[in-house]
Amino acid sequence: MDKLLITGNGPLKGDIRVSGAKNAALPILAATILTHGEVRLSNLPQVRDINTMCSLLTELGLDVSRDGETAVINGKGLSSHIAPYNLVKTMRASILALGPLVGRFGEAEVSMPGGCAIGERPVDLHLKALEQMGAEIILEHGYIKARAAKLKGADIHFGAVTVTGTENIMMAASLAEGTTILRNAAMEPEIVDLAELLNKMGAKIQGHGTKTITIEGVPRLHGAEHVIVPDRIETGTFVCAAAITRGHVNITHTRPEFLTAFLASLREAKLPFNVGNDFIEVLPHEGLVACDIETQPHPGFPTDMQAQFMALMTQANGCSLITESIFENRFMHAAELNRMGAHIKVQEHTAVTTGPTPLSGAQVMATDLRASASLVIAGLIADGETLIDRIYHLDRGYSRLEEKLMGIGALVKRIK
Ligand code: UD1
Repeated sequence: MDKLLITGNGPLKGDIRVSGAKNAALPILAATILTHGEVRLSNLPQVRDINTMCSLLTELGLDVSRDGETAVINGKGLSSHIAPYNLVKTMRASILALGPLVGRFGEAEVSMPGGCAIGERPVDLHLKALEQMGAEIILEHGYIKARAAKLKGADIHFGAVTVTGTENIMMAASLAEGTTILRNAAMEPEIVDLAELLNKMGAKIQGHGTKTITIEGVPRLHGAEHVIVPDRIETGTFVCAAAITRGHVNITHTRPEFLTAFLASLREAKLPFNVGNDFIEVLPHEGLVACDIETQPHPGFPTDMQAQFMALMTQANGCSLITESIFENRFMHAAELNRMGAHIKVQEHTAVTTGPTPLSGAQVMATDLRASASLVIAGLIADGETLIDRIYHLDRGYSRLEEKLMGIGALVKRIK
């Protein structure tokens, strides 16, 4: 199993380029199930979750040809409606095949995603919405089996905001008979990107980016071309990496407007930075002040930035209260950061970080994707060497991370 060795090397400096968003690319790849046509995608991040989703499409009979950050997917050959356990167990987002498969094939069998390191993560809201659209759903032998000769438009109110739930139903509704209204829908930029691709394919979606999305079903969708939006979480991770080292880093090819709440918190922490249309320039500073955050659905502070922000707060002056409102078990990085010298106390949904404390390199364990990123950030300023185990989590979601960080002066080495 690969490990990452990080040696503190002073302030980071230079330009770092953001890749396409994994969480936009995953539903967009799933959307190719909806058409017999050809979908051309670019700015795909080169991460393991994208490989897994491409394997799933191939397993379903689609023709996937990839070249670096681009892919051409032809949906003519769709021949299977089964997303098997061996793929779903490595990537929960395989559930995104459910809506498109029922929409186009009339039938789907998707292995039930289990719990994961950050919590139970049920998919009941996806299933309830499909049932409202007329699908018959049974859970059998660890699989979700859904069937509907033709899905019907429905007025759906999500009891809680769900990102992949909104995406799944938006895709299914694109080929349904009649109009579907999604209320209390997720508003993440990745939802908007998916809706834009679907509309290019001939779907009739309105209201994406707001709480109410209206989808007028169409009989078929055709091929299209699309550039994936930049990854806001990778962007935020680089901001934290630059800030913790007191570096001067220009983060390019991004969309700062996707990170309004996160950037507001950094402003409160007194981090100096400049923002343009497609870049964030983090400036050197003489010290940060602690600030409180609470994770919320978009446009609130993203739960996927909570761990990295906590690593940064270990170096801020004062006490920072971090409240996690989305997932019930997303503070596993706190214990690992404490092993490096941080002072973090977790009480139920809140973590109190008191800083600044010097960090010292240690052997630490990555528990999930964003927790791993927080350990990398801490390692950048720790005294001595930090060895991060289980970095397959990082490989799921960060494109060429060590190469990119080395480009701005970090000492990061992958140990095979
Ligand atoms: C997506 C993101 C993930 C991010 C999360 C929250 C992708 C591939 N993943 O995950 O990186 O951390 O949004 O921003 O885009 N819930 C239910 N029932 C359901 C669905 C969700 O109770 O049917 C609950 C979940 O347990 C969680 C909350 O709703 O507490 C939000 O989950 P959701 O938005 O669905 O997360 P994902 O779409 O899985």
